[in-house]
Amino acid sequence: MQIPVITIDGPSGAGKGTVSRAVANILHWHYLDSGSIYRSLAIAALDAGIPLENRAEVCRIAEEMQLEFDCSAELQVKLNGINITPKLAGETTGNAASIIAAFPEVRQVLLQKQKDFQQLPGLVADGRDMGSVVFPDAEFKVYLTAGSRERALRRYKQLIEKGIDANLDQITREIEERDLRDSARATAPLTVPAGALYIDSSSLSIQEVIDRVINLVR
Ligand code: DC
Repeated sequence: MQIPVITIDGPSGAGKGTVSRAVANILHWHYLDSGSIYRSLAIAALDAGIPLENRAEVCRIAEEMQLEFDCSAELQVKLNGINITPKLAGETTGNAASIIAAFPEVRQVLLQKQKDFQQLPGLVADGRDMGSVVFPDAEFKVYLTAGSRERALRRYKQLIEKGIDANLDQITREIEERDLRDSARATAPLTVPAGALYIDSSSLSIQEVIDRVINLVR
């Protein structure tokens, strides 16, 4: 029996995480935040003092690292037994993850770790290449996007709410740089998978997006 998978791909800040977690909760399915795997590797490499451009060493770290995920409430990640959750979300980590994610040999090492999440009763997988590379046979595919300014504005509001100083123009520039890096790379670039439901969330509420994804499955 094929274990059902919903893939939700798209650029950073489109709301994939929030939507994917909510859909997984509603359906009581597992949730894969594939970006957190790339982020964890970036943290492991930076903590070990390895330059991000040193592919061989980054690959060795990818092979050796032990990750434990707890998705029961907010995602908690342990790297080699140590809780790294507070470090995961930052922009520095996201940008570093985007750099190492461009190396094909790194993606190859991380492929099976992602496939292992496909377990009964089903999986909601969020990332850049979920529908195109990791789960090409997924029954349901979604591509979730929004304009770069809109995504930057959402990130800006989140930071301000947390009392963190932020600059909207700078966030917009960083988001556009990351979009370009994730879309232009040769291996598993960000792309709209064949047959995916395309959702532009620029003028939709999170609830409206969740409803569209749930309707697709039901
Ligand atoms: O979704 P995120 O912002 O947590 O992802 C961080 C980076 O990891 C993203 O800029 C590119 C990379 N990534 C990837 O290449 N493939 C994935 N499936 C998920 C993330």
